[in-house]
Amino acid sequence: MRLADLATRRAVQRQRRVWSDRVASWNTHGSVNLAGVTAALVAVADVQPGDVVVDLGAGNGQVTIPLAMRGAHVLGIDVSQGMADTLKAEAVRRGLDTVEAMTVPIEELDLPAGSIDLVVSSYALHHLRDPDKAKLVQAAAGWLKPGGRIVIADMMFGRGGTQRDREIIKSKLLTLARKGPGGWWRIAKNVVRYLARVQERPISMEAWTELMRAAGLTAITASTVVAEAGLVSAQRPQ
Ligand SMILES: C[S@@+](CC[C@H](N)C(=O)[O-])C[C@H]1O[C@@H](n2cnc3c(N)ncnc32)[C@H](O)[C@@H]1O
Repeated sequence: MRLADLATRRAVQRQRRVWSDRVASWNTHGSVNLAGVTAALVAVADVQPGDVVVDLGAGNGQVTIPLAMRGAHVLGIDVSQGMADTLKAEAVRRGLDTVEAMTVPIEELDLPAGSIDLVVSSYALHHLRDPDKAKLVQAAAGWLKPGGRIVIADMMFGRGGTQRDREIIKSKLLTLARKGPGGWWRIAKNVVRYLARVQERPISMEAWTELMRAAGLTAITASTVVAEAGLVSAQRPQ
């Protein structure tokens, strides 16, 4: 096995462990304005009844469910079996028979070429290693039907190279610092994670835009939703 594959496998195992422990608490988490991010993504996605959609890192369905309620057929992908089970249960509870939940790492997802109208993801792709983000965008461009779209919302910032990066990092540090010793502990933990690129691996909106362009996608848009959260969308040419 190549070293890169081993690193990806370790990253996936870690995400599975971390998120399987957070199934019950994710709804009440909320350091970012997640409801606002979800609403912005759903608005930009502009899903149509009958659209075939894939939600990458679907969690318990905060994006999958609203899209399915608009008439889309949504395949929710998650590395955690607990998250996928919760998503499926929520769909059943709401009487939605157009939701499927699949437990598979995004890095291993393989879909038929030209079969998808819309690929979405909210607050999940920053967990992928940088080479895996690039591979994913290339793969997703192939899954899309001509004219199909990809819409990604996530924490989007680099490592301090731009003014926006510095403002986001400063505001995150100040928010945590105000929480007292518990927050200081999280600062220490997060600094190590961000610097060592363990678990938290955000990249900037510009970097996402470049990945979309490199995959041959067009009509690329990028905007800030709330402080750290950005939204990038693109289309497979007709
Ligand atoms: C921050 S939560 C976001 C969940 C959901 N998209 C939402 O907006 O509420 C991240 C989700 O991504 C999933 N995830 C993380 N890494 C993953 C991977 N490599 N493959 C599939 N899912 C992954 C986690 O299990 C978790 O459910």
